[in-house]
Amino acid sequence: MKALRSVKGMHDIFPDEMPRWHFVEQTYRELVERYGYGEIRTPILEPLELFVRSIGEATDIVEKEMYAFEDKGGAQLGVRPEGTASVIRAYIQHNLQARQPISKMYYLGPMFRRERPAKGRYRQFYQAGAELVGIKSPAADAELIDMVVQFVKRLGIEQINVQLNTLGDRQTRPRFRAALVDYFTQFEKELCPDCVRRLRVNPLRILDCKVKTCKAIAADAPVVLDHLSEEARTDFEQLQSILDRSQTSFTVVPTMVRGLDYYTSTIFEIEVNSDALGAQASIVGGGRYDDLVEQLGGRSTPAIGYSFGIERLIAVLGSSASIEPRPVYYVAAVGDSGFERASDLTRELRNKGFHVEVAYQAGSLKSQLKRANRLAADAVIIAGDDEAARGAVTLRDMKTGEQQEVPLAELEQRIEARK
Ligand code: HAM
Repeated sequence: MKALRSVKGMHDIFPDEMPRWHFVEQTYRELVERYGYGEIRTPILEPLELFVRSIGEATDIVEKEMYAFEDKGGAQLGVRPEGTASVIRAYIQHNLQARQPISKMYYLGPMFRRERPAKGRYRQFYQAGAELVGIKSPAADAELIDMVVQFVKRLGIEQINVQLNTLGDRQTRPRFRAALVDYFTQFEKELCPDCVRRLRVNPLRILDCKVKTCKAIAADAPVVLDHLSEEARTDFEQLQSILDRSQTSFTVVPTMVRGLDYYTSTIFEIEVNSDALGAQASIVGGGRYDDLVEQLGGRSTPAIGYSFGIERLIAVLGSSASIEPRPVYYVAAVGDSGFERASDLTRELRNKGFHVEVAYQAGSLKSQLKRANRLAADAVIIAGDDEAARGAVTLRDMKTGEQQEVPLAELEQRIEARK
């Protein structure tokens, strides 16, 4: 029978890769919890309308990449392509505002986008992120950006480029939109069919188009920084000066717009230069979305957040991160009652917190040493009859091959000292 394969762009992640995943995830949890963020877990399936209303119907994600289907009861569902929409849905549904006027939430989990698979681009990928809901201030934006920069650096990724822009406020956006419509209307005949539609639905999306001719036209399009209201300009300048003060380096990229419709003012990305991802690649993306809570049926509430792809960070980490695996000990069973003795000793050592492996059936010492070798055991504890009679075991160093008899009472201390 033909063996089945995983869905294109969706991958298995194996135990030997997990130390890197855990390193990233644990470093992330540990850091954001220091800033007062608590974990939130939301469902992977949501009403399709949630994503259409938040991410935007003219975006690539909703138009081309969403996994959407009707379930057997006729409900229209979407498989989450990102985390923000769900977090805000939960925030409104459970009235989190009443409990905590400023809510800080972080998340980790799989997301799904039917993109063209490439290096660092998958159809199921893992994202982690954070959302700070209920506060609008340049200091809040700066703290959030600084937090994710600290995180990336803590992983040992130093060569990063923080790109910053603003989409302005409620006064700015209609002005900028009008300027874009004026500009792109002149080129309507040259735009791709998608962009002709975008011109009506959301002209900002044209700035994100990947088609060559559209890109060339967009290169001379108006930039938002020329259309900022006084207040939006002051906020953006303040954010930059706070970032300067905390020595968070950044570059203002006036043409950056980001690919989701919910963004309002501050937007940012963190790029790395990495062969593993194919030249320049974005590892973190985020921004302010002050209208989303209201758009999803809640009270007007400002918010900002970001997320990053865990696979992309792991690819950039490469082999540079020194992630020490826990040492493995192997208890070898030899002699008449060796098998029982070995299992008892194994249970005892595991209870004390050591990673211990043992044979599942009696066998020769040679075959057990072979298995210990394959498991990359640091040492083998040989529990033979003779030693047992003396209340001892033999400790074999797997690197040097040296063997020593160790009284059972000292075993824990001896293997602890090897760490
Ligand atoms: P995004 O820019 O669409 O933003 O995605 C954020 C990050 O997720 C990207 O920088 C990338 O590292 C990773 N990512 C996206 N698509 C893929 C893929 N197909 N394969 C692998 N990694 C991928 C958001 O999702 C927003 N929710 C960010 C946000 C949170 N804004 C405010 N709050």
